[in-house]
Amino acid sequence: MLVCGAMQFQRPPEEHAASARKAPLWAQALGSADAFREEQAQIGKVWTLLGFASDVSKDGDWFRSMLGGRSVFVQRFKDELRGFENVCAHRFFPLRTKDKGNGPIRCGFHHWQYNKDGLAVGIPNCVELFGVIPRELGAKLKPLEIATCGKLIFGRFPSAEHRESLEEYLGPGFDILKAMWSGDSAPYIAHSEIKANWKLGHHISLDDYHIVAVHPDSFGKHGYHPVEKTRYFRFGRHSAYFWGASEGVVNDTAAQCRAGTYRPTDYRILQFFPNLVAVHFEAAGTWYVLLQQYVPVAHDRTLLRSIYQEAPFPPQDANFFYKVMRKIAAPFLPWIVPIYLRKIIREDNEVCENLQTSIAQIDGPMILGKQEERIVWFEENYAEVVGKIGRND
Ligand code: FES
Ligand SMILES: [Fe+2]
Repeated sequence: MLVCGAMQFQRPPEEHAASARKAPLWAQALGSADAFREEQAQIGKVWTLLGFASDVSKDGDWFRSMLGGRSVFVQRFKDELRGFENVCAHRFFPLRTKDKGNGPIRCGFHHWQYNKDGLAVGIPNCVELFGVIPRELGAKLKPLEIATCGKLIFGRFPSAEHRESLEEYLGPGFDILKAMWSGDSAPYIAHSEIKANWKLGHHISLDDYHIVAVHPDSFGKHGYHPVEKTRYFRFGRHSAYFWGASEGVVNDTAAQCRAGTYRPTDYRILQFFPNLVAVHFEAAGTWYVLLQQYVPVAHDRTLLRSIYQEAPFPPQDANFFYKVMRKIAAPFLPWIVPIYLRKIIREDNEVCENLQTSIAQIDGPMILGKQEERIVWFEENYAEVVGKIGRND
């Protein structure tokens, strides 16, 4: 049994709201808007998935996203992608008020216009009203650092602490994600809102222990995760679940992905810090890749983005029967797979929302077993990245 020593919460429940800053680090931001803001200021400096290349394929295309609890947007300028915090330098109006679109960065409040460096270069009546030309005023948007992995676009706020490239940060996961998420096709996207903290959602993705209790119809009475077959691996700040695999499997899979020889055989999950889950699953002989991202919106509100597509690997038919079954089932999967996913997501979200109601009663450590080992790893990373919250403890 693994009892995560960092996860003590000893204070009586009634003191929780007043003393959230003194709670153990892992639990502080679950019930406090201030602690959440401080947490997100640190988390936003780490590479985080923002969106997809298919949403910015043409010059001038842009999409809005969230990073570190803040609204941001990514825009294509010819062959370059740039990202900025989504607030005007003039009076903080949101520059992008829809999820995606095409066109110059022009604020809807007073028509300030920005170039690809985020500099305000078009300011109505600038000399008359501000006494200088726009370039002399020097008003700028806050830039993001942007990098891509296949069709996935990641971003982070610049910082001195986190300087590694996206490839270095994702480690062997870079080649695996790239192989699974390449090509031009637009993935299927579904959003759902959870009235709970993002970490409660991410924790459940790192927990194979809840499956029998929470998903009894979806995975069968005994679940898909017998302890003897379940193997967890840690790489960098990330972790992975591989069915029955041996040491070195993450690097081996990355090498196969790089060489173009990877072929799906097993259900797999990779969790990328801070909030991205990459799942590889099969439905009636067809393999899919699924990304789930717990996007923090407020201390008690999360946007769960679920994005999936058919895996871009040749079909793996174990035998003739398998091949026939796959071909018969394939036309129905675009209807069946989303129903199945929605059901599992609904079941998980309900657990998170119930957990959120008992946050104020956390008065002891989590008792984490073998099938929850990745939660311990996640919280170790969280403590390193977020550090101390609050100035008075
Ligand atoms: S707030 Fe954007 S131009 Fe005034
Ligand atoms: Fe679940």
